[in-house]
Amino acid sequence: MSKARLALTGGGPLVVLTGAGMSAESGVPTFRDARTGLWERYDPTALATPEAWERDRDTVWAWYRWREHLVGAARPNAGHLAIARAAAGRPVVVVTQNVDDLHERAGSEQVHHLHGSLFDHRCDACGTPIEVEEPAAEPVSRLAPPECPRCPGRARPGVVWFGESLPVQPWESAVDAISAASAVLVVGTSGLVYPAASLPALAADCGTPVIEVNPGPSGLGSEVTLHLRATAAQALPALLAP
Ligand code: OAD
Repeated sequence: MSKARLALTGGGPLVVLTGAGMSAESGVPTFRDARTGLWERYDPTALATPEAWERDRDTVWAWYRWREHLVGAARPNAGHLAIARAAAGRPVVVVTQNVDDLHERAGSEQVHHLHGSLFDHRCDACGTPIEVEEPAAEPVSRLAPPECPRCPGRARPGVVWFGESLPVQPWESAVDAISAASAVLVVGTSGLVYPAASLPALAADCGTPVIEVNPGPSGLGSEVTLHLRATAAQALPALLAP
């Protein structure tokens, strides 16, 4: 811990790259953890691809509405709060693969969502943003997505599905932030999904220290300067304390 704290000192710009493990202690399931991961219980090809949407919109919409409800009922954990507090002492940019809003609710102001947001619904045909009702607390297996007010399309979740490109602006902001960072903290990601997983290597290529917080192994390797085998809520308050 003391070596990691040392690598993070200096007050220069800090980038925190987060994945699903960041929100695990808030009760939001990760994707690939054994037993609890969403992709252990659900088939991503049936729920998180444009083809799945074409085939069966009602099943996909119902599943994302259930996830919206889960996230809405969750609260930021001590890790989210520690990241938000750190911005009082230095520039902090959060680059997240998460589609939840827990960083924002913890108080972080600069947050780039590489994989979109559960809450930014838009028309699947014309892209118009669509406001939808609060999700029901009870999960259902099928639900018709609302119609677009401007065309015959339907509301779709504002997340990036497998096979889709990342939104350009968050990606460019992430690359700029990593290139300008004095340290990069990687929290709770398996480091298996590209291009997000290439960002720690970009930092390492710039000679920037990369500190990883993860209680388990990840796909990241030599690009990581220091590994902390701990959870986000355990490690981040001490690691980021002034
Ligand atoms: P994963 O589910 O692949 O990985 C979660 C990581 O968090 C694992 O390495 C765990 O060891 C770690 N972890 C678990 N609990 C933790 C805790 N309390 N504190 C810190 N770390 C913890 O999630 P991501 O890497 O975010 O994409 O997955 C990347 C992308 O794959 C997601 O954004 C999503 C998914 O398919 C899309 O939906 C496009």
